[in-house]
Amino acid sequence: MLLKVFAALSFALASLATSLPADLPPFKSSLFKDLNVTRGLVYHYYASPANAGKPTLVFLHGFPSTFYDWRHQVSFFQDKGYGLIVPDMLGYVGTAKPLDPEAYASSLISKDIIDILDAEGVQQSILIGHDWGAKIASRLANYFPQYFSSYAFLAVGYVAPDTFALPYQEQNNASRAVLGYEDFGYWDFFSTEGADQIILDNLDSFFDIFVPKDTVQRPCTSWGIE
Ligand SMILES: *[C@@H]1O[C@H](CO)[C@@H](O)[C@H](O)[C@H]1NC(C)=O
Ligand SMILES: *[C@@H]1O[C@H](CO)[C@@H](O)[C@H](O)[C@H]1NC(C)=O
Repeated sequence: MLLKVFAALSFALASLATSLPADLPPFKSSLFKDLNVTRGLVYHYYASPANAGKPTLVFLHGFPSTFYDWRHQVSFFQDKGYGLIVPDMLGYVGTAKPLDPEAYASSLISKDIIDILDAEGVQQSILIGHDWGAKIASRLANYFPQYFSSYAFLAVGYVAPDTFALPYQEQNNASRAVLGYEDFGYWDFFSTEGADQIILDNLDSFFDIFVPKDTVQRPCTSWGIE
């Protein structure tokens, strides 16, 4: 169920991921690459090599997003000579969008990211994840700690492996009890046939709801959200 929901999330927005212009400063068009990872899926990513003595930073975006989320960080760190690796995550923009929900398992995506680091010869880096990218960063920390010297989790903290162990409906019920609304209630909509078209037809409203001005933050200690 959970995997199906994750996949639906990706599919719903996959059609947003049409063609971004090749030249998007501060990204240099010559530094984009494609890698067919071990399991036969092609990842599109930005790779700016590190100057001598500078570490490499790996940026994993969330939902609904692209590599372009990181333009400000890329601008800042690229000028200072830091190495940068910024993939489109699975299901987004230039990276493969497999139709099998199982393909989106965090363990598999984590290995894909490691394949990219191996291809780039980056033995150790600093890993930064935002939103759902924080979940993959968390699994990378669990499965491949030798590849990373440190981590930064943006918007979503470290996601423990059992975070989604609770069945989806139970989790929604629990969040309704604590927060007054179903934290993941929108997954039902995303899983509905035709949701992608509804989103495309109402993009402004969609992003308005996703990034509201009146976000209320309330503690929800059972998930470590403060
Ligand atoms: C990626 O590799 C797989 C085999 O691992 C192959 O079937 C597939 O065609 C390759 N994709 C591209 C776009 O080259
Ligand atoms: C969630 O709550 C609804 C309504 O309160 C209830 O019908 C349903 O059985 C609950 N589901 C789970 C899995 O707890």
